[in-house]
Amino acid sequence: MTYNLLKGKRGIITGALDENSIAWKVALKAKEEGAIFTLTNAPVALRMGKVKELATACQAELIPADATIPEDIEKLYEQSMQVLGGKIDFVLHSIGMSPNVRKGRGYGELVYPDFLKSIDISALSLHKFLQTAEKMDALSEEASVVALSYIAAQRTFDTYSDMAQAKAVLESIARSYGARYGRFRKVRVNTISQSPTKTTAGTGIDGFDAFYDYADKMSPLGNASADECADYVVVLFSDLTRKVTMQNLFHDGGFSSMGISDEIVQMMKP
Ligand SMILES: NC(=O)c1ccc[n+]([C@@H]2O[C@H](COP(=O)([O-])OP(=O)(O)OC[C@H]3O[C@@H](n4cnc5c(N)ncnc54)[C@H](O)[C@@H]3O)[C@@H](O)[C@H]2O)c1
Repeated sequence: MTYNLLKGKRGIITGALDENSIAWKVALKAKEEGAIFTLTNAPVALRMGKVKELATACQAELIPADATIPEDIEKLYEQSMQVLGGKIDFVLHSIGMSPNVRKGRGYGELVYPDFLKSIDISALSLHKFLQTAEKMDALSEEASVVALSYIAAQRTFDTYSDMAQAKAVLESIARSYGARYGRFRKVRVNTISQSPTKTTAGTGIDGFDAFYDYADKMSPLGNASADECADYVVVLFSDLTRKVTMQNLFHDGGFSSMGISDEIVQMMKP
């Protein structure tokens, strides 16, 4: 069912790599709900990924931008405003990568230049998107910016490694910039803390299948899927959530409020 929640809205959607990406689902849902938007990803991802298919399906322009490079982000806003015909009403930040996780290093063996890259790509990039937008005055009044996070920002999941710090910084930036941009232009900035989801970034975490099954068994509603995440993102982009800002919103089937579930108790019984 569609509600025309985003009719007349212009957006930028980052991070769609393939049909499993959360951003891919958000793009399809935003299109269904009447939005027009541009799609962006790192140049290498655009060359190698399947994003062109999505761009065709959504009639969206593809604009390469490395999220760590402010000049790329500036060009992205410039071109997006030109193509879409005005200021931007919503931005999805769906970007995460840790070279340390990718190289399978343990938490005691992290390499610091790579640690800094994890933070730059996965967290500071949100600040760069917001600061660049503010400088260019690229976001419309009451625009909505949503970034995707994970509960490892608050609790320890050993193999999530330096991405835990990246998510903690990401959520903190959403609060700090949310305060600033709220006063400046009534812009909302929130993070959604999503269940484990079977995507390229998700499955790159060591032991991901165990994360996934454990969370599913702990959550009264089960894990939230990427499609369900897209529904939630669209509501946050819409006018129905004008006063929701500076929040980290758990979208996890109840996982974050659980201690232990009966299903896990039964599994652990000798
Ligand atoms: N999959 C999960 O279990 C899960 C759970 C909670 C939160 N998240 C978060 O959701 C977001 C999207 O991830 P996903 O699970 O859809 O996986 P994904 O691998 O499909 O998306 C990650 C995206 O980040 C992009 N990216 C990496 N470096 C970049 C750079 N320098 N510039 C621009 N883009 C860059 C990649 O190209 C990719 O498209 C991430 O922030 C991730 O941490 C994922």
